[in-house]
Amino acid sequence: MTESDHMKCIQIRQPGGPEVLEITARPIPEPQAGEVQIRVAAAGVNRPDCIQRQGHYAPPPGVTDIPGLEVAGEISAIGDGVSDWSIGDTVCALVAGGGYAEFVTAPIQQCLPVPDGLTMIEAAALPETFFTVWTNVFERGALKTGETLLIHGGSSGIGTTAIQIASQMGARVMATAGSADKCDACLKLGAELAVNYREQDFVEAAKEFGPKGVNVILDMVGGDYIARNIRALAPDGRLVNIAFLQGSKAEVNFMPIMLKRLTLTGSTLRPQSVTRKGEIATALKNQVWPLITDGKIRPVVYQTFELSDAKQAHQLMESSQHIGKIVLTVKK
Ligand SMILES: NC(=O)c1ccc[n+]([C@@H]2O[C@H](COP(=O)([O-])OP(=O)(O)OC[C@H]3O[C@@H](n4cnc5c(N)ncnc54)[C@H](OP(=O)(O)O)[C@@H]3O)[C@@H](O)[C@H]2O)c1
Repeated sequence: MTESDHMKCIQIRQPGGPEVLEITARPIPEPQAGEVQIRVAAAGVNRPDCIQRQGHYAPPPGVTDIPGLEVAGEISAIGDGVSDWSIGDTVCALVAGGGYAEFVTAPIQQCLPVPDGLTMIEAAALPETFFTVWTNVFERGALKTGETLLIHGGSSGIGTTAIQIASQMGARVMATAGSADKCDACLKLGAELAVNYREQDFVEAAKEFGPKGVNVILDMVGGDYIARNIRALAPDGRLVNIAFLQGSKAEVNFMPIMLKRLTLTGSTLRPQSVTRKGEIATALKNQVWPLITDGKIRPVVYQTFELSDAKQAHQLMESSQHIGKIVLTVKK
């Protein structure tokens, strides 16, 4: 193999803190049938990347151990049977791994056009949170126009996406966040109410907002939020967990689930099939991409880092100072 067959990428030397991320050279991945190869311009950083780095979120079988779940860039090669995309097209894509690299491959079902008016950095900030929010809030949570949605972690990458999509879809949105600045950001993005959870009880606030509680909750916190979320839900409410940052074990009174006819659900995106991800992509393209093109939704990019500075990007993410997304840029 020659040097030109290799690319720069980030590898996780061993499970641990941000310092285990190191730049290395690996063979450039070749697209298989039904895949495209993308020359990466920018790659989004997501909290699951930190969890993978810590050794708690292994890539699904057969997927590269290079971290990175989303990219934007230019198609540099196409696999057999690909007719919808051509070399030179710009694209943003959800990948099951490998985004922190100069090149990555993606199934065509997981590729979406870069919406008009967005930079590559902004486009790279779309796939992971938009796919996650769509499938959890609108499919599993079945949020409808006019209903109320409580989003925990409103200033996170996931939260800033969920606030914008849900409010644009006609839901009334309430968010929680850990500082006044983060609450302000949630309000500017379309939340009607933002609760600083360090100062105010979100359960009481949700009961007033509802007015009998909220219809849907998107939660990444877990722990003692599980019981409090159940109290904050309206009759026929739906609780959707996408993570358990404060732990997944709790003592819970299940009686309200029966009395209020609640649904508890959740999902992780990464292990789902290409077909399922393709269905989510189609829904996003039809229902959300036009809102981005119209300027009604825009990803919130807090800071960018060069690929070689992935360690600093993870340090920032784990400091939780950011509002919105952190993105790595890749030099051509
Ligand atoms: N299930 C899925 O498919 C899926 C997909 C993508 C992401 N996720 C999950 O969704 C969550 C958000 O992801 P993201 O990439 O948007 O992350 P992020 O931007 O880093 O946001 C995480 C936010 O959670 C809040 N938080 C609350 N309790 C926390 C705790 N104990 N530790 C750390 N942060 C805490 C923090 O805001 P405050 O300062 O306001 O507390 C922080 O900004 C993560 O847990 C991630 O694993 C799940």
